[in-house]
Amino acid sequence: MNLEDAIANPQNLGEMTDADAVGTVGSPDCGDMVRLWIKYKEKDGRKVIDKASFQSFGCQTAIAVASMATELIRGKTREEALQMSAAELSQPLGPLPPMKIHCGQMVEGALRAALEGESSPAPVSSAPATPVGPTLADALSAAGKTAGKVKIVLKS
Ligand code: FES
Repeated sequence: MNLEDAIANPQNLGEMTDADAVGTVGSPDCGDMVRLWIKYKEKDGRKVIDKASFQSFGCQTAIAVASMATELIRGKTREEALQMSAAELSQPLGPLPPMKIHCGQMVEGALRAALEGESSPAPVSSAPATPVGPTLADALSAAGKTAGKVKIVLKS
């Protein structure tokens, strides 16, 4: 899957209501934000990531990397997922332009926040609380289907 495909057809988009952990990170570079949910399961005596999902106030690159990351971490243990760098999480999409490196780093940060916040059922946030609801997910999903653009304006 390349960057364009991932943008047009993001996987695992939306809130996970039965998640074991959630992490949220905002980027100081652009004000965008990613929230990532993780659900674990037992497999062959190991606790592995069963599934992951995300919501994003980020740009299309952040959505594409989050989509890829939620696919790549499935079946990995918490420790294995923690080893993954932003470059590894976006590697199948090809190299990111220099201006978009932080988009991948934001996804990595949300993943780490979720992995490290595993024991806490409450959302772990290193960003100001910003409402993220189904409306955003619906809007982003619709944008993916129509290849149109969604502009989300955050109000203070
Ligand atoms: Fe800031 Fe992509 S997340 S421009």
